Amino acid sequence: KTVCKVVENNVNSQTNYAQAVDILNSGGLVAFPTETVYGLGAIATDDNAVKNIFKAKGRPADNPLIVHIGTKGEVALYIDDIPEVAKTCMAVFWPGPLTLIMSAKPNILASSVTAGLETVGIRMPDHPVALALLQQLKKPLAAPSANRSGKPSPTEAVHVQEDLDGYIPYILDGGATGIGLESTVLDVTHEPPVILRPGGITKEMLEEVIGPVLQPTQAEQKLESTPKAPGMKYTHYAPNAPVMLIDCDWQKVSLAIDELQAQSEKIALLAPNSFMMSKADFFFSLGEENCQEDMGIALYQALRACDQTEATVILVTATSTDGVGAAIMNRLEKASGGNWYITK
Ligand code: TXA
Ligand code: MG
Repeated sequence: KTVCKVVENNVNSQTNYAQAVDILNSGGLVAFPTETVYGLGAIATDDNAVKNIFKAKGRPADNPLIVHIGTKGEVALYIDDIPEVAKTCMAVFWPGPLTLIMSAKPNILASSVTAGLETVGIRMPDHPVALALLQQLKKPLAAPSANRSGKPSPTEAVHVQEDLDGYIPYILDGGATGIGLESTVLDVTHEPPVILRPGGITKEMLEEVIGPVLQPTQAEQKLESTPKAPGMKYTHYAPNAPVMLIDCDWQKVSLAIDELQAQSEKIALLAPNSFMMSKADFFFSLGEENCQEDMGIALYQALRACDQTEATVILVTATSTDGVGAAIMNRLEKASGGNWYITK
């Protein structure tokens, strides 16, 4: 097994980039920070290297990867007819947390990147370390989130190390990521475009720029007729103990804790700061009440932190599905399997 080297990195650490570029060019994997979560990169034209991403993550082979690029101009290398909406989105939201699904030129990217689909997801990340790496490499990087499949995505280098030590040789540590939730995945091969995965760029932000956009609910996504991201069918973001959602209401949360503790459950509560004084056995803050940005930033590390406790049940307070709330609730629906705690 490879021992993984974690190097502290700032945008000017030239030796680190040189090492990362060497590893990638020889077919290896490098984890790097983006503005959303850490990615696990391999050169997107190297099929063997990309296959190693699936091995390291334990990821099902039918779940395609996002291609990361360092300059907007590179899109034309992989896509023949870039739709007008895509051009507008790139101009407004790139670099940034928006992945565009478009029809791929055949036989340029490794076939394992697209998992046999005729489309490919591309994004230009808005993080100085990711951009410097891509610009020095001068090649596209296929990169899923750098977690073992099924676990919460990593928002710090140490999370990557927890999951992938022994599987990958190198992590560029750029500190905690900014947004904390994965990019919005927008399918622009459909008219109107469809949000396959909600994220930091919200439906509201997109509609202001390109007009109507569909955002199917989880239930609608399960219907065969709606286009979907293959990844959305798998279990995701799950800590070891079961996760249950609950309304963000002091009375309800207190009652739930009483009832569960009466059944000898040990409770981890993930909730805003105002719940700090609850009787939960473990408390992890999701930031200021009603601040969805805080919640997005804190969510994955709080879910991961539960695995370091003796908690037998994890209660998480829900939020509205407006704005970034759509992305937060999408991840929480998956982490909980859609289970809500119902007080007796
Ligand atoms: O913020 C992010 O997007 C992070 C950072 C590292 O960039 N990456 C990330 O990748 O979240 P991953 O592999 O964990 O999620 C990619 C999602 C999956 O749900 C996948 O099914 C979907 O995008 N996807 C990729 N290519 C697709 C395609 N051609 N058609 C439909 N869905 C696609
Ligand atoms: Mg992922």
